[in-house]
Amino acid sequence: MNNLKPSTWIMNQINALKIRRKINILDFASGNGRHAINLSKNYSMITAIDKDIEKLNLYKNIKNIKTICFDLETNEDWPLEKESFDIIIVTNYLYRPRIKELANFLKKDGFIFYETFAVGNEKYGRPSNPSYLLKNEELIDIFKSTFDIMYYFQGKVINDQISIKQRCSLKKRLLKNRSLLQNKY
Ligand SMILES: C[S@@+](CC[C@H](N)C(=O)[O-])C[C@H]1O[C@@H](n2cnc3c(N)ncnc32)[C@H](O)[C@@H]1O
Repeated sequence: MNNLKPSTWIMNQINALKIRRKINILDFASGNGRHAINLSKNYSMITAIDKDIEKLNLYKNIKNIKTICFDLETNEDWPLEKESFDIIIVTNYLYRPRIKELANFLKKDGFIFYETFAVGNEKYGRPSNPSYLLKNEELIDIFKSTFDIMYYFQGKVINDQISIKQRCSLKKRLLKNRSLLQNKY
């Protein structure tokens, strides 16, 4: 099924780390599970969080996957353990008011791999609402104070259709006396 095809970029970022130990991966706003399902074949624990219970039900019984049904856009604390994930992936999802909090759930040295739509996508289709389109270098601007930027791209991506995407690989920096980040973005 085509809509279950994972992003090649996301899969390459994770596989390039050549991690052989047990790791915890968070698939944030996991949707139909195209990444969680594929990652569960090679990685030990995938936590998939989304507000859509029907989508989560499609893969809640797969070995190595834990699903959490939760609305990520309220003021309620996210039901995730602080500093517990080695990798967080976010694809095709953007909610600016709480985006910086992702860092709180990463272990020291952990990675965020983020890929979503960017300005210019409105010429090709949806999403076209600026709330869902990253501005130029926006992921860098959001995360640069606490992350090293390992990779950045913004431009045309051609799969079944053309879209404008931004991709960013971020590695959490070790900060002394770092207090957990609030919604300051
Ligand atoms: C376009 S889909 C992307 C799914 C997946 N990341 C992927 O790339 O295949 C966006 C997902 O965000 C989820 N979502 C939207 N608003 C949400 C919210 N407030 N809380 C939790 N999940 C939400 C939707 O249910 C949907 O599964």
